[in-house]
Amino acid sequence: MALNTYYTLGKSGLRVSRLALGTMTFGTEWGWGADETSARQLFNAYVDAGGNFVDTADLYTGGTSEAWLGQFIAERNLRDRMVITTKFTYNAEPGNPNAGGNGRKNILRAVEGSLQRLGTDYIDLYMLHTWDTITPVEEVMRTMDDLVRSGKVRHIGLSDTPAWYAARGQTLAEWRGYEPLSALQLEYSLVERNIEQEFVSLGTELGMGIMVWSPLASGLLSGKYKPSESGSTGAGRLATMQGSSNPGFQKFSDRNWKIVGELERVAQILDRSMAQVAINWTANRPGIASVIIGATKLSQLEDNLKALDFEIPSELKQRLDEVSRPAVQFPYSFFGDEIQGMIHGGVTVGAKPVGYILNQLIQSSGAGVS
Ligand SMILES: NC(=O)c1ccc[n+]([C@@H]2O[C@H](COP(=O)([O-])OP(=O)(O)OC[C@H]3O[C@@H](n4cnc5c(N)ncnc54)[C@H](OP(=O)(O)O)[C@@H]3O)[C@@H](O)[C@H]2O)c1
Repeated sequence: MALNTYYTLGKSGLRVSRLALGTMTFGTEWGWGADETSARQLFNAYVDAGGNFVDTADLYTGGTSEAWLGQFIAERNLRDRMVITTKFTYNAEPGNPNAGGNGRKNILRAVEGSLQRLGTDYIDLYMLHTWDTITPVEEVMRTMDDLVRSGKVRHIGLSDTPAWYAARGQTLAEWRGYEPLSALQLEYSLVERNIEQEFVSLGTELGMGIMVWSPLASGLLSGKYKPSESGSTGAGRLATMQGSSNPGFQKFSDRNWKIVGELERVAQILDRSMAQVAINWTANRPGIASVIIGATKLSQLEDNLKALDFEIPSELKQRLDEVSRPAVQFPYSFFGDEIQGMIHGGVTVGAKPVGYILNQLIQSSGAGVS
């Protein structure tokens, strides 16, 4: 499917491509990114393929990601065409707690920096980057609403928060007439499926499109790790960051190697790259609005841009579903057929998204009986 087919994000009227371009790799400051020439090639290739949805954050590469993205957009005079997502939360001044977090003071500081680096006077989608565990969601929603009313921001969203926090934020918006949340940004891939237990139904029920990050698990599912080729450990971000305590980089486990092995076999049958199959699987899961693809080289991006050009037959999809199925924990184990049968008198009732996802998970984990 070409990138120049657009979909509205969540319940908003914002039209976005199903594959977004992640720009966390724009800049070499973190030791695993792309230099300016390569980053420009990535941006141009994405736009030339019809893509309009780009993701950055004030945190990324110390501001270089935002600055280069703004520059590349300006070079081609594409500001009106592009949908720019950026985010606040992370601290910009060691020792000053109000130069980070999700309080009003930091949001209003951060937005000015992002606008300046991006070289624009508005942000299309402004997101809280990560829950800071202490700021009341009332303050976040009211401040984000102020930004929309001021014209600096068009749409808003949350990334990496608990589901209850997002649900309360959206309910406040609805009841108080604030700008609603249009998107949730969350990690999701064949090796990280925990969002299925709560966030997929949350997004579907409350009108927030899920933007997936790390669909290749930081490169683990990209094809550079092939269990069939013993000794192939792959070079790239995961190798560079081995030993890091960042949970996003801890991907080497027995469970994950099994998934990589099955992905390799399925990709061989389909005659597609492992990266394409992994991204395709992710993009076609319930509740997923857009998948943010990342790359350090043009060849990687060209590979990934073909990820929606084919369908994974149901039998092969099932093999991927099964090898990667997460364990179902309490209270989700109570939403399967056994307990629900006791509630509904033994008849099947309703077909809400929550039931669809959870029943799939619960039945095959053995937690349900029917
Ligand atoms: N909200 C959040 O908390 C959050 C967190 C993380 C990311 N994000 C966003 O999501 C975007 C994507 O995340 P991600 O970069 O982690 O995505 P990813 O798809 O999991 O990993 C991308 C990395 O995998 C490798 N790769 C990608 N395609 C490949 C291919 N075809 N063949 C071989 N290697 C390939 C490259 O790294 P190497 O060349 O180094 O191996 C590339 O940088 C980011 O740019 C950012 O915008 C958001």
